Amino acid sequence: MTPKELEDTRASWNFATKQHNAHKHEQAAFLRSGGSTLFPDEVELLGDVKGKRLLHLCCNAGQDSLSLVQLGAVVTGVDLSDEAIGFATALSKDSRLPATFIRSEANAFFESTTERFDLVFFSYGVLGWFDDVPRLMKGCARVLSPAGRLVGLEIHPLVWSFGEGGAWKDPYFAPGHDFDDPVSNYVGEAAGALSPSGHVAAPSTPNPNRAHSWQHTVGDIVTAVASSGLQLELLREYPYANGFRPTTWFAPRGAEGVEARRFVPPVSLPVMLGLTARKHG
Ligand SMILES: C[S@@+](CC[C@H](N)C(=O)[O-])C[C@H]1O[C@@H](n2cnc3c(N)ncnc32)[C@H](O)[C@@H]1O
Repeated sequence: MTPKELEDTRASWNFATKQHNAHKHEQAAFLRSGGSTLFPDEVELLGDVKGKRLLHLCCNAGQDSLSLVQLGAVVTGVDLSDEAIGFATALSKDSRLPATFIRSEANAFFESTTERFDLVFFSYGVLGWFDDVPRLMKGCARVLSPAGRLVGLEIHPLVWSFGEGGAWKDPYFAPGHDFDDPVSNYVGEAAGALSPSGHVAAPSTPNPNRAHSWQHTVGDIVTAVASSGLQLELLREYPYANGFRPTTWFAPRGAEGVEARRFVPPVSLPVMLGLTARKHG
């Protein structure tokens, strides 16, 4: 990834994060009253986080990070976007949920920090922003304390192969190819599934900034984890996507509650990928 590509991606996320937050009603009040933006799936993979030092990788605007603080974790969130980290810092103050938010490129953070964590967590659209996943996984392994765990819950890489109506879209195997689309207004498109505090209808202007992303197959991801020295403990595929509706080909799984915020294709496909891995010691 070149410095110019990184700046493009940052600009695209700055724009998108502002747009996404415009759809979310009264977030600080929601968190202050005990509301959570987490889905049961990441809570299950993480296990008991009480008192654990947790690094939230690519934390965006901090809603999930602060929901983890509510569960007792001591959270540090790292993200590339100025807008995301600025929003997260203000949300932490306004919701009275203390956390540390750092604006940094993830690899730069890993290579400079002396901090160590019990958990490194990433979720819902992170790995694609990195052209070198083995490097990223080595960084995760480096900052984990002995017996610490890496926990990830991602959109399954097969999802990008399906466009509107289930038509073939992007290739599953695309090593080194830069998909340089702008970050979309997927929060607006999810019409409430990503706004548990309440959905606000807001105008959606196209994002003028291209972002750079790469496709990584399940094999690429698992091999990157294994080659980082971490021991893979769990790999799970899910038939639904939490909060994210890739196209209208995916429909809500249920009429209410969490099932109304999960999306499924009309055929049986893996839609999310979960993994946990542990550092020896
Ligand atoms: C889809 S969001 C992740 C959502 C997040 N899990 C949450 O809790 O809301 C992806 C995030 O990755 C960040 N990002 C992209 N490239 C990055 C990089 N090289 N280093 C750090 N963060 C990056 C973006 O700024 C964006 O906030």
